[in-house]
Amino acid sequence: MSKIKLAIFISGKGSNALNIIKYFEKDDTVEVALVLSNKTDAQGLENAQELRVNTVVFNNETFKKSGEIDTYLSSLGIDFIVLAGFLRQIPADLVYSFKNRIINIHPSLLPKFGGKGMFGKRVHKAVLDSDETESGISIHYVSNEYDEGKIIFQKSIAIEKGETVNSLTAKIQDLEHAFLPIIIEKTIRHEFNA
Ligand code: GRF
Repeated sequence: MSKIKLAIFISGKGSNALNIIKYFEKDDTVEVALVLSNKTDAQGLENAQELRVNTVVFNNETFKKSGEIDTYLSSLGIDFIVLAGFLRQIPADLVYSFKNRIINIHPSLLPKFGGKGMFGKRVHKAVLDSDETESGISIHYVSNEYDEGKIIFQKSIAIEKGETVNSLTAKIQDLEHAFLPIIIEKTIRHEFNA
């Protein structure tokens, strides 16, 4: 039987992508078939290549063109897409053809601190500026609105006295690394209700 194929989209460091690749490396039923980026210099591309995962770089214009990425992913037999630090909006045709098959990780407790322009340290700064007592991660399906698709999983952590953007960034990344691969696995094996 052929494996379930994942494609991971990244724009930067790609630590989550690397973590996901390693998690499924020896799996008999799931494989990371491809890492895609809109940035030629995304560090994560090199890391993926070192683990012998194919990589593709596309430009933002190609990405927006109706059907191109969609056709490409379908030709490779990709079953699920994971957005791990990918900073572009997914075109509507791709959302449509991969309905409930595109998963995003967001570094806050959505619906708080999501939406256009809310990524990376900006999210953590906004959380701290708002005197929140907790933050966390949200793993959700992708819809046509930024960060608004159905939530699959959330995990929270307390914000400590003296918390800084850097300390919160580190804690959130630890949560992402601990949970994202497991939640992807449960989702693609339909262990959650879609
Ligand atoms: C993560 O915090 C993710 O939630 C956010 O971007 C960061 C990506 O980190 N959207 P990395 O590129 O996987 O290291």
